[in-house]
Amino acid sequence: MDQLLSNRFNVGSLPEDYIFPPELRPGDLKVPFSTNIPVIDLSEAQNGDRTNTIQKIINASEEFGFFQVINHGISVNLMDEAGGVFKELFEMPAEEKQKMCSNDPSKTCKMFTSNVNYATEKVHLWRDNFRHPCHPLEQWQHLWPENPTNYRECVGEFSVEVKKLASRILSLISEGLGLKSGYFENDLTGSMVLSINHYPPCPEPSLALGITKHSDPNLITILMQDHVSGLQVFKDGNWIAVEPIPNAFVVNIGHQLRIISNGKLLSAEHRAVTNSSDTRTSAAFFVAPSEECIIEPAQALTAEHHPPIFKSFKYKDFISYYFAKTGDTEVVLKSFKAHKN
Ligand code: OGA
Ligand code: NI
Repeated sequence: MDQLLSNRFNVGSLPEDYIFPPELRPGDLKVPFSTNIPVIDLSEAQNGDRTNTIQKIINASEEFGFFQVINHGISVNLMDEAGGVFKELFEMPAEEKQKMCSNDPSKTCKMFTSNVNYATEKVHLWRDNFRHPCHPLEQWQHLWPENPTNYRECVGEFSVEVKKLASRILSLISEGLGLKSGYFENDLTGSMVLSINHYPPCPEPSLALGITKHSDPNLITILMQDHVSGLQVFKDGNWIAVEPIPNAFVVNIGHQLRIISNGKLLSAEHRAVTNSSDTRTSAAFFVAPSEECIIEPAQALTAEHHPPIFKSFKYKDFISYYFAKTGDTEVVLKSFKAHKN
């Protein structure tokens, strides 16, 4: 098993197999924080301005595929506690973490460095990752790590809260799209995976990447960024940085929501860059359909003069194709188009 970055000491210079080709590397150019990516106050939806909140969410999802939410109802204490546990996980002794490492796809909880295909990939990512399913909780919680000692309890509680938040956001989205209420309250949100990214300080941030450009293949992602920046969104041919806002969650549209909305909402490409001074730990909750779930553009959004632009398929078939094509957005979406041309 390849050594985790967090188990290595004195990495003085960037090893050659972390250097991306010039067209993919971030370079030295400073990427500005976007003041345009909307920050949505979810308490407004409760205080009578539901229509306005829905409009903001739909506009953000169409234009950026990204927005942040504040006053979302998840307590600061719980967010801090979970954030602390995620950091502690990667600060555990090397042997403890190495025991959790596996490339075996059948393993429920996996810790690895870069990608699971480390052995065959050309360039490695400057990150360690730990991921496991977290919904339905009863099915998975007993398989999670025993250390840090409060991991199961704290991450369990946090996962339940994040799932509820995702449901609230999806219900606002379904109303905004004109879908029937409860549209996503079924197999379409049957699973959720927690993916914790740990990016140690990198000796050459301009040459390396934490995560390469990709769109998320699932339905919707709820991300707890660190206080340290690193997330960038590709918008109209340029990179824009997503500002870390204390106690906010970043929400982004995945490919399935793009397809269900018949192309209205955008599953935007994004990446994570590194920096030379601060460790960054982010936690992404990927809300996803169940494997056998059939995905297709919602019937309410298609009509004779507005035909479905994507075909109907099983979610698991999309996922296998996505990974076979290493997430190439254009290739993947084209292949699930209703009419290829
Ligand atoms: C991801 C992702 C961004 C980040 O895990 O899919 O895009 O900021 N993460 O870690
Ligand atoms: Ni992503």
